[in-house]
Amino acid sequence: MDAGPKSLPKSDAVELDRGYLIVFEGIDGTGKSTHCRMLAGYLESRGIPAVCLSEPTRGRWGMEIRKILNEGRNGISPEDELALFVNDRKEDVALNIKPALEMKKAVLIDRYYYSTVAYQGALGLDPDRICRENESFAPRPDLVFIFEAPPEKCLQRIKEGRNDGLSAFEQLEYLKKVESLFRRFSGPHVRRIDSQPAREVVHAQIRREVDDLFKLT
Ligand code: TYD
Repeated sequence: MDAGPKSLPKSDAVELDRGYLIVFEGIDGTGKSTHCRMLAGYLESRGIPAVCLSEPTRGRWGMEIRKILNEGRNGISPEDELALFVNDRKEDVALNIKPALEMKKAVLIDRYYYSTVAYQGALGLDPDRICRENESFAPRPDLVFIFEAPPEKCLQRIKEGRNDGLSAFEQLEYLKKVESLFRRFSGPHVRRIDSQPAREVVHAQIRREVDDLFKLT
C-alpha cells in the first residue's frame, strides 16, 4: 500500500523557507515512480506542501516523445530526440517547476535532466554537454535519488506488471548503457538507492534522507 496522504495522520502545516527540488532517477522498472508518490504522501502527512511532477510531461513535446516510445525511433536522429526532451523540460520548468518552487513547495519529480544525460548520452551524445545545456536553464535539485537494480530484473518487472509490452527504450543492451551513465553521477546531492529490498525498507531510507533535508527529526 502506498503511504498516501489519507493513510497517515496529518501534522500542522509547515511553511518552508524556500522551495525544494527532489528528483527520482534510474532506469525503467526500478520502482522510482512508486517511491516518488510514497514520499509525497509522507511529506503531506508531516504538513509539508508537496507537488509530484514527472517527465516526459503530457504537454506537446511530451506527447511527441510518447509517440516515439510507443512506435519506435523510426530513424529520428539522437540530436532531434535530445531536442524533444530539452524542449519538454524547458516547458516543465517554466509552467510547473519554477512556479511551485516560488510557492515554497517541496517539488518531487519523477525523472529530470539526469535521465537525459543517461538515456540520450547512451545514444552516443556527449553526456557532459547534455548536462551543461540542461543546467543552463533547469533549477538544480536539493536531492537526487538514483534508483539502482540490474537491468535484467527491471525488464522482468516491467513485463510482469504491464499489459502493453515494452517501450522502444526498454531494451536490455540500451538500458545497460543507460545504467552505466547513471553510475557516473556523484556529488553532495546524489543518493544511490538499492531498489531491490522490500518497498517499506527503501521508503524508510528515503524518509531518513528527506527528514535530514527538512530537519524533521
Ligand atoms: P517514464 O518515466 O517511463 O515515463 P512514463 O512512466 O510516464 O511513461 O519515461 C519514459 C521514457 O523516457 C523512459 O524510458 C526514459 C525516457 N527518458 C529519456 O530518454 N530522456 C529523458 O530526458 C527523460 C525524462 C526520459
